[in-house]
Amino acid sequence: MKQYAALILAAGKGTRMKSGLCKVLHPVAGRPMISYVMDAVHGAGFQKIVVVVGHQADGVRKAAEARAVEFVVQEPQLGTGHAVLAAKDLFQGFAGDIFILCGDIPLIQPATIREFLDMHEANASRLTVMTALMEDPAGYGRIIRNESGLVERIVEQRDADASELAVKEINTGLYIVDSELLYALLEKISANNSQGEYYLTDIIEGAVRESVSVYAFPLKDAREASGVNTRSDLAGVSNIIWARLREELMNSGVTLLDPASVYVDSDVTIGSDSVIHPGVTLSGRTDIGRDCVIESGVYIMNSKLGDRVTVLQGSRLDRAVVQDDTSVGPMANLRPEARIGKRARIGNFVEVKKTVVGDGTKAAHLTYLGDSIIGKDVNIGCGTITCNYDGQRKHTTTIRDGCFVGSDVQFVAPVEIGAGSLIGAGSTITRDVPPNTLAISRAKQKMYPLRKGQGAKRSDEDRDKGT
Ligand code: UD1
Ligand code: MG
Repeated sequence: MKQYAALILAAGKGTRMKSGLCKVLHPVAGRPMISYVMDAVHGAGFQKIVVVVGHQADGVRKAAEARAVEFVVQEPQLGTGHAVLAAKDLFQGFAGDIFILCGDIPLIQPATIREFLDMHEANASRLTVMTALMEDPAGYGRIIRNESGLVERIVEQRDADASELAVKEINTGLYIVDSELLYALLEKISANNSQGEYYLTDIIEGAVRESVSVYAFPLKDAREASGVNTRSDLAGVSNIIWARLREELMNSGVTLLDPASVYVDSDVTIGSDSVIHPGVTLSGRTDIGRDCVIESGVYIMNSKLGDRVTVLQGSRLDRAVVQDDTSVGPMANLRPEARIGKRARIGNFVEVKKTVVGDGTKAAHLTYLGDSIIGKDVNIGCGTITCNYDGQRKHTTTIRDGCFVGSDVQFVAPVEIGAGSLIGAGSTITRDVPPNTLAISRAKQKMYPLRKGQGAKRSDEDRDKGT
């Protein structure tokens, strides 16, 4: 039984992206591009996976997270052939074949890689190239075949003449090659081309020279091999991945009212019978429970929602937790560390930051709750503000279970309100309030009779008289 190892090339900068971030780290549906390639290779069953890193090597290592891959550094980066050479030491004593691919093809699927391996074995091949027919082959290396259909060489777009440019069969950048043959051929390649780089593709001509038959494996769905080189390519593959994710969600029992307008990242989960309205973005590591309703214009990132949660129009949730049967919005802003309990209600124009809100508590309108601990079954009146910041430090407001806070109250933190207390509307609370106490702090209402003609508005009678 032949042994296989995988080699992912990810050391390049990605000049055509015109970015400070190296290409393979650009996010695609919320995850670094390279992570999709690693998952596909892992999914195809490879035990040994080597990743060649260079530009922003630490970032690429981090993107691998817990995936079982080895790294090797290519420094400087002198082309794809040079990248494979950089990994030579890691294949000392490895007698099998190496599956080589680039880190910039996030659409590749494990099943396709398996088929590629099967065909390579069926042909008893020592070198097989995955190819694809592209309507617009611009940017890719072209496959030049001989009369018997075997691959003769690959010519890069920049080095191709008019007849070669007309070829629609392209090099996907995926190869399976006998490791011994590979490293013997790489010793002989030169950087004698328009980019002055060591091209991996030159091993094809080298193999042909040594009478090795080079087979082509034509890909059925050419899109799977789409390489990301530009921002436009990035948008193209991202849209394909989002479309796949939407299909998976609908197949698992989630309703998307207008699928194409919903953006759900790769690390998002949604329970069945949840309904997602048009124009919703769910990003990062977000989990949404069953029977939830997410209305239009909602943006949720890195948040956890329980079951039967409703998020009404135009709300934003960032690193928030919302438990079962709670309603949020419309136009609510749950900022990091907002933790909302069960059966609660966070209404319109309510902002919550680093605050725990207990079960059954309601803050229905126009409120700011920051650095607070709010107990169970509390009513927070319209316009309530926790004044948490003294210009230097943040302070905590604690409101215990069962309190009733009237409208337009300011809590000047640090301050604590005991359970079951009542805060009169319009109060500015600067001192702790014991349990079961009415606290009210507002200027007494004064009244002065107005003389005729004074006041905000003249009567109709006065106006008619011209006074
Ligand atoms: C390459 C192929 C081209 C093929 C295309 C498929 C060569 C010479 N050309 O071109 O025939 O059609 O892929 O997408 O191989 N990399 C390194 N070290 C380097 C240079 C690149 O690790 O020194 C990595 C990059 O990070 C990237 C991958 O190799 O993941 C491909 O590099 P890229 O510059 O995108 O090659 P293409 O021009 O697309
Ligand atoms: Mg490329």
